[in-house]
Amino acid sequence: QNQAQALALSDAMTRACDYYKAQLRTAPNAIEYLKRRGLTGEIAARYGMGYSPSGWDNLRSVFPDYDALALVESGLVIDKVDEEGNKVKRYDRFRERIMFPIRNVKGQVIGFGGRILDQGEPKYLNSPETPLFQKGLELYGLFEARQAIRDAGYVLVTEGYMDVVALAQLGFPQAVATLGTACTTTHVQKLLRQTDTVIFSFDGDKAGRRAARRALEACLPQVTDDKIIKFLFLPQEHDPDSFVRERGADAFAQEIHEAMPLSQFLLREVSAEHDLSEPEGRARVQFDAKPLLQSMAPSALRLQIVRGLASLTESSPAEIEGLFELAKPVAV
Ligand code: CTP
Ligand code: MN
Ligand code: MN
Ligand code: MN
Ligand code: MN
Repeated sequence: QNQAQALALSDAMTRACDYYKAQLRTAPNAIEYLKRRGLTGEIAARYGMGYSPSGWDNLRSVFPDYDALALVESGLVIDKVDEEGNKVKRYDRFRERIMFPIRNVKGQVIGFGGRILDQGEPKYLNSPETPLFQKGLELYGLFEARQAIRDAGYVLVTEGYMDVVALAQLGFPQAVATLGTACTTTHVQKLLRQTDTVIFSFDGDKAGRRAARRALEACLPQVTDDKIIKFLFLPQEHDPDSFVRERGADAFAQEIHEAMPLSQFLLREVSAEHDLSEPEGRARVQFDAKPLLQSMAPSALRLQIVRGLASLTESSPAEIEGLFELAKPVAV
């Protein structure tokens, strides 16, 4: 029964996706918008991008049994109810938005992100979670990027839909995006199954830097010595999309080249705001580093970070391992 439901959901998503794609071809304002953002029809087609036109029930033409079908669960439509909870009317969730289909690793459309043209709130409207679509598990663009990730030998992890398509447009098709949520350990697991090198490239603003910190925490329990995790920090006013379009592909390639290794980012995170010239400052750095190091499995990389921390804080690696109880085998 669950499988039948998932199939029905997946079929509805595919049909809606085809409809939105067809609509984009006859929407000059939407095409104009994408062009202004530097995107060609080829990239829009590669990512199955579409357009949801204005109107409250356009999906009637896609789903003849619009009222009867269990479409609400798909999130494609919304049932408006009155105070007594009676259904008043049904309407399309996505209207006048650029549509980004979100695929799972099998390539099935499992949800959508919809960007408003120009200004307006909310800027992005996303599908709700369904049995097919859980935001904390999925990465936008992973299906489309799989071959490019193998070819490049690394994956770029960004925050947004536009970052992914703009990077692909300018020669970096190995990019994916978390879906406006924090990077989870499941995301990291999924990524490390595809490649041994992950480069996080979030927005240069405060939110982006916070996202990098969360990603660091999600990576620590999973990083092994055969994996490389790096962090790319863009200027405050940029995200990957704006940076690559304004500065060009070579400048972005240089940023990738100079990305900060996880060990360095971790040590910078814990030491940035503390005065290493005072014992209290050095103690505080160790205090901040303790949970991060404790979340790592024993590894050569962990030892390297311990050594780095030891030299920053005028301690020995053995002292830190003792203080953090790192040598203790994990109880099972
Ligand atoms: N996001 C969202 N809902 C919002 C705002 C953001 O779901 N109201 C998610 C989207 O996945 C978006 C990502 O968070 O792509 C990053 O947000 P932001 O940096 O604000 O948007 P951009 O991707 O830079 O979008 P654009 O360049 O189109 O402004
Ligand atoms: Mn942002
Ligand atoms: Mn952004
Ligand atoms: Mn942007
Ligand atoms: Mn601190």
